[in-house]
Amino acid sequence: MLRSHTCGELRATNLGATVALCGWIDRVRDHKGVIFLDLRDRWGKTQVVVGPDSPAATLAAARAVRPEWVVLVRGEVGARPEGTTNPKLPTGAIEVVCRELEILNEAETPVFQPGAVELPGEEVRLAHRWLDLRRPAMQHNLLLRHRIVKIMRDHFDELGFVDVETPMLGRSTPEGARDYLVPSRLDHGSFFALPQSPQLYKQLLMMAGFDRYVQVAKCFRDEDLRADRQPEFTQLDVEMSFVTSDDVMGVIEGLVQRSAREILGLEVPLPLPRLGWDECMERFGHDAPDLRYGLELVDLGAEAATSGFRVFSAALEAGGRVRGIRVPGGAARFSRKELDDLTAVAVEAGAKGLVWLKLEADGQWTGPVAKNLGAAGAAIRTKLQAEPGDLALVVADSFEVTCKALHMLRKRLGSQLGLYDPAAMHFSWVVDFPMFARDEESGGWASMHHPFTAPRAADREFLATDPARCRAQAYDLVINGSEAGGGTIRIHDGATQEKVFSLLGITPELARERFGFLLDALRSGAPPHGGIALGIDRWVMLVGRLDSIRDVIAFPKTQKASDLMTGAPAAVDAKQLAELGVRTVVPPAKRPAGG
Ligand code: AMO
Ligand code: AMP
Repeated sequence: MLRSHTCGELRATNLGATVALCGWIDRVRDHKGVIFLDLRDRWGKTQVVVGPDSPAATLAAARAVRPEWVVLVRGEVGARPEGTTNPKLPTGAIEVVCRELEILNEAETPVFQPGAVELPGEEVRLAHRWLDLRRPAMQHNLLLRHRIVKIMRDHFDELGFVDVETPMLGRSTPEGARDYLVPSRLDHGSFFALPQSPQLYKQLLMMAGFDRYVQVAKCFRDEDLRADRQPEFTQLDVEMSFVTSDDVMGVIEGLVQRSAREILGLEVPLPLPRLGWDECMERFGHDAPDLRYGLELVDLGAEAATSGFRVFSAALEAGGRVRGIRVPGGAARFSRKELDDLTAVAVEAGAKGLVWLKLEADGQWTGPVAKNLGAAGAAIRTKLQAEPGDLALVVADSFEVTCKALHMLRKRLGSQLGLYDPAAMHFSWVVDFPMFARDEESGGWASMHHPFTAPRAADREFLATDPARCRAQAYDLVINGSEAGGGTIRIHDGATQEKVFSLLGITPELARERFGFLLDALRSGAPPHGGIALGIDRWVMLVGRLDSIRDVIAFPKTQKASDLMTGAPAAVDAKQLAELGVRTVVPPAKRPAGG
């Protein structure tokens, strides 16, 4: 090594030692001829002092260096003078008195300084990601990611799981998103699909007898992106043989407890709370509820039915619901404008409007439609357990719309009213999902998880009689209102798998064509098996208490699925397309020169 120590290493115990440090110039300050250099590497920062009586070459180098130049410093560890120590910096008690300063590489003036307090917008940072990754905050995030993945690997290794790599070039694995396709050069017109997950491979590994599988697996999904979604992301992918849901959840709970303890110093009591899907939708309107605060949904159907208010009766007559949230002390907190904003949140979620009611000191509701409530007003008050000063928000619509609108309102109010400690971590399971949901486009059944999920044993008969009633052996891990992982017990017999394919509208011919290998393997001695996948990026984001998934991925894509640094995706030249047998329909102006 060119260096004897890192920039984060030296302490008062090293006083007098002769050392060599390498790193980037973070800051240069000239104090009446004494030059102070802050030297930075991923381990920390150390102050270097170049005195006026230093050797001429060292003085010249110290006067020449600029931020982001790369240097080698040789010198002695000295104590910082009284009053100049920096208790905030681990190396703040010492400085390196420079004897020799060697410039290893110069740097052009950077587009932005990693050490600066004011940062440019994210686009600039993504386009110059190598500079952005020099920032201590980003380095901290990637080191946190490393530690979390290490704990995951250790945990599963100790439990006898085998790490097996599965292919990137394969056939479509249905997880509900669009595939990224790779054209075949040797078989024009044919395409590989990048895996949406290793789902089928890991099931086949169980059929091959590996018993316990784990992989840190790259997954690719061409879907609309959000703050917690990337087109290319990483799962901790797990599969086990001869298990029930409880066994899989137990292994993950051990991991939750261990990571919380080692990373956050938190003791998470086990078992984690479990909520059934129905209960979740009733109480929170969502299948990944944030349980750090209350504001639960209350059904007001029976009370609303007596009001005669057209908005309520219309929804109930159409088979819908009237549900509401009580916001304690909310009556005085919201201006008319803010109530309009809340109405906009509900409308954005598909509701036709939002009834808001303030409970006055005299026990009467006020608000635009309060007079329409009649005698139902008192009943609604009782059902909501409302107190004077409370605000009630009520939505009348289909079950789905009331869920979505009240969930969005609950989320908005939780953060706006500061109802939870942002540092708190809440882990829970959501279980007993329906097997199927109606596909909005086709009107047919779609898998709630994926087509390989087993129904609960008691519900198997509903596959034939009433698929809507069929519940799955599925479990999602929810952290602070985010789906951090999901898994299921799998179908392990060919007949049930074929039945589920046919319910999903996959004809026997298509099933054979696309999943023949699975159907054959299921008939060749498939053990009962199940597993789960945790979203590593989301996990790190939540544990690191970060708002954006892009902050935990070294080289992420933008919301538009592009890489601003390399310019991917990009056009390719005509020769490459010809070799692949691919022709594009992009207007000529978008083609590269000569393409
Ligand atoms: P699922 O589709 O629920 O299950 O994915 C598992 C977890 O992966 C994370 N995740 C994502 N993270 C970032 N960007 C995305 N686009 C993205 N999509 C999903 C989430 C999610 O909970 N094969 C099944 C698992 C199984 O059944 O074993 C699967 O992939 O945190
Ligand atoms: P309207 O008669 O449509 O103007 O609505 C009267 C009031 O009821 C307005 O305050 C609307 O925001 C509200 N409203 C209308 N439809 C709904 C609904 N489906 N659920 C809740 N509030 C509604």
